[in-house]
Amino acid sequence: MGQMKRAFAAVIAVIASAHLRRVGAQFQQACAALASRLTIPNTTIASTSFVAAGTNLAFPTVDASCGPPFQVVSSDICRVVLTVATSSRSHTAMEAWLPSNWTGRFLSTGNGGIGGCIQYTDMDYGSSLGFATTGSDNGHPGQNGTLFLNNIEVVKDFSWRSLLTSAVVGKQITRDFYGKPHDKSYYLGCSTGGRQGWKMAQEFPDVFDGIVAGSPALAWDNLISWSGMFFPLIVNAGPDGFPPPSTWPVIDAELLRQCDGIDGAVDGIIEDPALCNFRPEALICPPGNSSSCITRKQAKTVRAVFEPLFAEGILMYPGLEFGPGLVAAVFQIYSSRQFLFTDNWYRFAVFNNPAFNATVLTPEEIVFAWNLNPGDINTWSGDLSRFSNRGARILHYHGQQDQLISSANSNRYYDLVSRTMRLPPSSLDEFYRFFRISGMMHCGGGPGATFIGNTEASVASLDPDENVLMAMVRWIEEGIAPETITGTAFINQTKALGADFKRAHCRYPYRNVHTEKGDVKDPASWKCIL
Ligand SMILES: *[C@@H]1O[C@H](CO)[C@@H](O)[C@H](O)[C@H]1NC(C)=O
Ligand SMILES: *[C@@H]1O[C@H](CO)[C@@H](O)[C@H](O)[C@H]1NC(C)=O
Ligand SMILES: *[C@@H]1O[C@H](CO)[C@@H](O)[C@H](O)[C@H]1NC(C)=O
Ligand SMILES: *[C@@H]1O[C@H](CO)[C@@H](O)[C@H](O)[C@H]1NC(C)=O
Ligand SMILES: *[C@@H]1O[C@H](CO)[C@@H](O)[C@H](O)[C@H]1NC(C)=O
Ligand SMILES: *[C@@H]1O[C@H](CO)[C@@H](O)[C@H](O)[C@H]1NC(C)=O
Repeated sequence: MGQMKRAFAAVIAVIASAHLRRVGAQFQQACAALASRLTIPNTTIASTSFVAAGTNLAFPTVDASCGPPFQVVSSDICRVVLTVATSSRSHTAMEAWLPSNWTGRFLSTGNGGIGGCIQYTDMDYGSSLGFATTGSDNGHPGQNGTLFLNNIEVVKDFSWRSLLTSAVVGKQITRDFYGKPHDKSYYLGCSTGGRQGWKMAQEFPDVFDGIVAGSPALAWDNLISWSGMFFPLIVNAGPDGFPPPSTWPVIDAELLRQCDGIDGAVDGIIEDPALCNFRPEALICPPGNSSSCITRKQAKTVRAVFEPLFAEGILMYPGLEFGPGLVAAVFQIYSSRQFLFTDNWYRFAVFNNPAFNATVLTPEEIVFAWNLNPGDINTWSGDLSRFSNRGARILHYHGQQDQLISSANSNRYYDLVSRTMRLPPSSLDEFYRFFRISGMMHCGGGPGATFIGNTEASVASLDPDENVLMAMVRWIEEGIAPETITGTAFINQTKALGADFKRAHCRYPYRNVHTEKGDVKDPASWKCIL
């Protein structure tokens, strides 16, 4: 019996691989022929080429600031490389990765920082899951803003037009290649990519059916101004006014001592940092003791690190939420010079003056930038009615230990939508769900259960309960909305070392609390309460 079964299986395997080879040959021919079949206005096709699964694809001309110039491709794809004119003096470079094993789904991916870089790992993530996937350079190459100078068209591309254009063109390429249009369209992005996703929900609600927008750079001009306050703060503190690295673990320990238990579990992870009101003054050295403590000047600096940005009496941007590691991160990110994005944005997009010194921004300049809103970048509309009316959905997440974009700004945005649309959370839940990911840093990393499938590197599972992208697919295609998103924490944050624990993250305004019974590592011992 066993022998017959094995022989049968072998025959099936031969048939299957012959079938795959035939499909593969057809797919390769279709890909090679695609260039001549595409007639999309204002586009220049550079190449269409078959890329076999396992290929380490090199990007020899990509800007050095964009990270590794190669990507191992996980599945057979037809790769389309092209540029699209977005105006008479701007264009976007884009790619479409069309998998042989297409699910009928379309996916656009976002960008990061002030760039400028196609996120190839996201391209691979999407295409390996069967999405026809596109990405663009957001209108300019590389991780800087020099091309914004005297060219509002490039700023517009960065704000919204590159994503919009690449999605429209990408959908057309998808239809031309597979011979039928996509069924559902999705978007995945974090940081600047999160802002791009929100921009589409606010202003171009027809483009995507389901949007996954993480750690979004909303209220862009104010975020940029807030980022610009850390360098002068560190400079003004002086060498003895900023707590030295030796005290960072002491500060973190005291912060956790004050706030970690608020959620019912002393586990190094603060579930709802909005409930934390850290007093660094608790660490001021008592007379005659200078170990494991800080000076009053340093305590003042620590307090200032977490302060919101006000200008002319108006709250421009909320402060960092309290979490371990953030004092260190601020020092490491901002201590050597004015933050690149702040510097470049003010010089090239706000003032069109390369000589402008953005080191110390005045309240007038900060308010001016917000009101100028170059390219309509702010992405701060609370009206999602067009988006919700057409049945589109958005999943927003934000790591609660974000060192680059205050997670408090996401709470603030949710509340803005709630007020603008006059809708309580139970109604917003129909189309907008916001998950606070405890213990997650900017778009990933950190001690919490941070593997939620928002990037290829942070996939613990493809189960929609544990993967934000697949949760969105299920929400759109089966009408099942995510109640929670369960993340996985790996031992020492290293996947190869195996899973440590899982935790179900609640959607705002619910917060996660540990119940009296049960191991903190057991997701069932937590519950979401209002
Ligand atoms: C092509 O680009 C020009 C601007 O360069 C624009 O006016 C025109 O509408 C574009 N055509 C299409 C079909 O998008
Ligand atoms: C194609 O995708 C399906 C699920 O979408 C998967 O089960 C199957 O293994 C994939 N086949 C190949 C050849 O990748
Ligand atoms: C900005 O990026 C462009 C394109 O990658 C590059 O040519 C240029 O050298 C960069 N400029 C600065 C000041 O980094
Ligand atoms: C000095 O301060 C540290 C930190 O508060 C504390 O652990 C230590 O016991 C103190 N020592 C004295 C002598 O007060
Ligand atoms: C910019 O301003 C800062 C603070 O006022 C000053 O220290 C620095 O020298 C200025 N930089 C240039 C290039 O003028
Ligand atoms: C995890 O990291 C800690 C601290 O660096 C180390 O002591 C421990 O051995 C690591 N555990 C594993 C399984 O590698």
